Parts: sequence; structure tokens; C-alpha cells
Amino acid sequence: QGGSVASSYATGNIGGGGFMMVHDVCRRDVVCVEYRETAPCAATREIYSKLNGTSRGQLSAGVPGTVRGMALAHQQFGRLTWQSLVAPAVQLAAEGFPIDSSLATSLNGWIKRLGDFPEARRVYSKSDGSPWQAGERLVQPELAKTLRLIADCGPDAFYCGAIADQIVAEMQAGGGLISKSDLAGYQAHLRWPVHGTYRGYEVFGPPPPSSGGIALVEMLNVLETFDLAKKKRESAEGTHLFVEAMRRAYFDRARFAGDPAFTDVPVARLTSKEYAREQAAGIDPHKATRSDELGRELLTKAEGESTTHFSVVDSAGNAVSNTYTLQDSYGSRVVVRGAGFLLNNEMTDFNLQPGATDRDGRIGTPANLVDPGRRMLSSQTPTIVMQGGRVVLVTGSPGGRTIINTVLGIVTNVIDFGMTVREAVDAPRLHHQWLPDITKSETGRISSDVRQQLESRGHRFDEPKKQGDAHSIWIDPATGVRHAAADKRISGHAAAE
Ligand code: DON
Repeated sequence: QGGSVASSYATGNIGGGGFMMVHDVCRRDVVCVEYRETAPCAATREIYSKLNGTSRGQLSAGVPGTVRGMALAHQQFGRLTWQSLVAPAVQLAAEGFPIDSSLATSLNGWIKRLGDFPEARRVYSKSDGSPWQAGERLVQPELAKTLRLIADCGPDAFYCGAIADQIVAEMQAGGGLISKSDLAGYQAHLRWPVHGTYRGYEVFGPPPPSSGGIALVEMLNVLETFDLAKKKRESAEGTHLFVEAMRRAYFDRARFAGDPAFTDVPVARLTSKEYAREQAAGIDPHKATRSDELGRELLTKAEGESTTHFSVVDSAGNAVSNTYTLQDSYGSRVVVRGAGFLLNNEMTDFNLQPGATDRDGRIGTPANLVDPGRRMLSSQTPTIVMQGGRVVLVTGSPGGRTIINTVLGIVTNVIDFGMTVREAVDAPRLHHQWLPDITKSETGRISSDVRQQLESRGHRFDEPKKQGDAHSIWIDPATGVRHAAADKRISGHAAAE
């Protein structure tokens, strides 16, 4: 009786950070291993006001959290030795793995655009310079050496030892700020998840510095006040409610969400049923609320398109929902020389221009400004849903700010609209993030007739190519059978052993 896995390999990486939700059957609890990147101690708002939301290079990198995060998860929940846990990664890097067509296309496009990043081009190009084909092996000997050090000497190799020296040398070569003491001082945290209830289910999402758990529970609470199943998912009424719930939760995200060590995030209020009733009462069933009527002072910024999510359930019923990222595809594009791994460009997740205001530009609120040692706000939303004390759904996705709405769609598809997990993952998605005041609706999410009805209520639409890559597992509460659904939008697989 094995577990089920759904995963993708996009850009979760030792040079980045993320959030891991763990349901441990023995503890009968869900906890969050939070390993978000942190601003270096030398970071100032002045330095970072020169960056924008798509910046690359050494300066855009936050202190990576993944290795400490994985070590903390291992220390708390692990049953294998650390060395045997890291060994398969060493082997994959040393012997290579066959790449699929999606990764081949991605690498070929990326390598062409790597003018200023020769180390990244060297590491990820084929030795003869020809384009990658699906099925060819990507071998990474320097990464293998780095991972071997981590396997043999533990996370300190990365934060205090030889790898830390390589990261600091890389910073000095390109004007980056991460220092030895930043690395030595980095800590991952165990945090209590954001918890909510939804139509008899319990929902666990990541707490600040992610906005995911708060926004997800806030939207579910608002939607719970309506009979969604009766309104139908694709109808003008149903879609209107989703968009209005999204708009309000993303407005609150912009106002309140940030690193709890630096800003007071009113989690209890935002996730309360009472607050949801107030929010729901403000929704006009016949008219779209104008986002700029909700608040004029905030800005939004574009986010990147690559993150990795995996969902796992083991034979004992333990569950892991993990999302981790370098921020943009290939992060900062900086490969640490000699160490073979990419650094994140997560500093661009801060509000980089304090106080700046722009309806379709950036957010400038105090809740998420750059400060030394501060964690930047995330939208990552690895989620575990339970019923009667047992896990029923493990889900999450990449996609920057769209992540929270992708997860909202999957949870409601299963609970309100009776879809199987396969149907819930396949179903076209919806996204509204308060500003810009436009709804992104995947092809087929609504008919052209419904779109026209909604446009007459004041909604505006855009059609994205795809939204997210939400590898999910449903555990049938009646039979205990696990159904794993790998999202077909990017890449990844379901597996059982
Ligand atoms: O933590 C965050 O919110 C973002 N840096 C996630 C970026 C992302 O998902 C890009 N990928 N598709």
C-alpha cells in the first residue's frame, strides 16, 4: 500500500525558498514549515527602489531558505537518515535525468536570452551548443558536488561552510548583498497554519509571510455565505461571486499581508466568519465593485511564472503539500560559480517603491517594504483539506499571485461542484487580484454569452494562455483510495509505489 505523489520540477531549488504543509498522523496536527527567503542585512529601501518586479542579477536574490527548511522538516518528521534522503538528488544531478519536451522548450528559449549570465548559459547548455531535445539527459556535475556536501555535512555546509563561501564570492562578483552572517543567521520556522472551515471541511493554508492561507480562507468564508452549488460555477451569478470574493481578499492582501515579524497582520479578523459576512454584504449581485473604489493608495506588480508544487501522501496517511520557488523562471539567472545552482530573485516580491501608487502598477503599502532581515510577502498556497480528522485533499500550485485563486478553484470544484480531483484540476480557471481591475478567465471557463452578461455588470475580461500547474491528491473518505491528478498545463506526473 504505497503513497501517491504528484509533482513538477519547474524551479523549486536549493537557491530559493517556500512553504511546506505537513499533516502528521501521529501528532494529529497540521503544521507549516516556513522557509521563505529573507532580505540581506545590508538591504535598504533606497537600493531596492531601483529594481523592478522583473529584475535579475545578484542584487535581486534573497537569502535562500530551502536547505534549512528541508532540514527542519527532516528533523521534525523524517524517518530516513539525512544522507539517504539527499542521495537520490545527488544521483539525479550526477547521472542526469531525461528531460521532457516542456523543459527542453523552456531551456532552449531561456539559454537564447542569457546574454548577461554566462555561467547559467554554460551550466544549462549542451556541450556542443545544439538545442535540447526531449529525452536527452541533463547532467549537472557541480550541483552534484554541492548536494553531496549537503548530504555529508548537513545544512551547515550551505549556510556556514564551503557553499556559503561560494555564494558570498558570487555576490561580490556582481554587486549582491548576501553576506556570510546573513547565511549563518538564516532560520526556517515551524508555524501554525491559517485554519478555516468550509461547509464542514477543515482547510489548512500557509500563514504569513505567505498571503495564501489568509486570502484562501477569506474567500472561502465569503463564498460559504452563498449557495454556490445552486448558482452553478459557469453562470454569470456564480462567476460574479467568485470575482467579487477574489477582489476583496486581494485588496486585503495588499493592505495587510507581510512578514509578521515586521508588520501586524490581522489574521484572526480577516479569516473570521463575521468579517466574511460584512464582506459578502458589500457585494452588489448586479454590479461589479470597482477595485479603485475599494482603495486608491495601493499598487500592484507583475510576478513571474515559475514555481514547483508537489503533493504527497504516504502509506501511513501522512500528507505533505509543498510549494517552493526561485520567483521567476530560473530566478535571478545567477548560477553560483562552481556550485551549479541558481539563486532566486525573490527580493522583487517586496513592495519596492514605498508609497508609490498606480492602478495597474505596483503595491507600495508599508506591510511589505524592504527591511534588513525581513521576509518578502508570498502568494504560495500549499493546502491540506480535512474532514472528520482525516486528510481528503492535498493541493497547491505555481503561478505567482494567481496561486491563491487556483487553489480556491480546486477546493470549490471538489466541495461545491462535486467534481473528481481530475475534473477539478482540468477545469478552466479564474483570476482577479483587485488591481489591475480585470478578470483573467481561461478559455472555456465562461461562455461568450455569460461574458457579455458580466461585461454589462461592469466586469472586464482577459484570456490567459494557462493558469497554474496544480498537482493534487484526493483521498476518498469512504474507501481511503488515493486519486492523484497531475496538472497537464505545464509538466509533472502522478506516481504511486
Ligand atoms: O512566493 C511567491 O508568491 C512568488 N514568488 C511565487 C512565484 C511564482 O509562483 C512564479 N511561478 N509560476
